[in-house]
Amino acid sequence: MHEDIKEVLYTEEAIRARIAELGAQITRDYAGDRLVLMAMLKGGLMLISDLVRCIPSKLEIEFIQPSSYGAGTESSGTVDIKLFPSCDLRGKRLLLLDDILDTGRTLKRVSDALRDRGADDIRTCVLLDKKARRAVEIEADYVGFEVDDHFVVGYGLDFADHYRNLPYIGVLHERCYAGGQAEQI
Ligand code: IMP
Ligand code: MG
Repeated sequence: MHEDIKEVLYTEEAIRARIAELGAQITRDYAGDRLVLMAMLKGGLMLISDLVRCIPSKLEIEFIQPSSYGAGTESSGTVDIKLFPSCDLRGKRLLLLDDILDTGRTLKRVSDALRDRGADDIRTCVLLDKKARRAVEIEADYVGFEVDDHFVVGYGLDFADHYRNLPYIGVLHERCYAGGQAEQI
């Protein structure tokens, strides 16, 4: 285990098994429909790459890049969209993917922006749901695991752009962010 990780919450095997279940469920739910899986960069990268391999039906992959985190472990509250997908979303069923649903501001802002651009059937899938922190009214349609109010990293989740490459999800040691010296990301 990495020295900055206090506790592993979900192992690589547990994540793989849960994603296989989600993939099977999504395959059933969207049977035969024209599906676009769109991941939020950068946190949703691992999820989309593992999830698409558990969905055998025909689908497209897209990316969108919001940014709300400045420094530290608290969201700044304003969500900018840095990169928009160039594809035409009209008439397609969209499944938006992210690593974690926290206050809900990012998912809400991104869903609204995509709706404004013509997507009319948007559902959401997150690997983790930190329900206790919700600030806006939004729930994900597919959730991997619920987590308590810890700052977690690994499997796409970062702190100041680090730790995304850990194959498991773990609680980051407080000493790593005490004093708030995180670099701007
Ligand atoms: P929200 O807008 O507050 O729901 O924040 C969602 C975004 O915040 C996610 O896409 C993550 O990038 C980030 N985030 C929220 N909680 C955590 C965490 O515990 N670890 C790492 N990133 C997090
Ligand atoms: Mg993120």
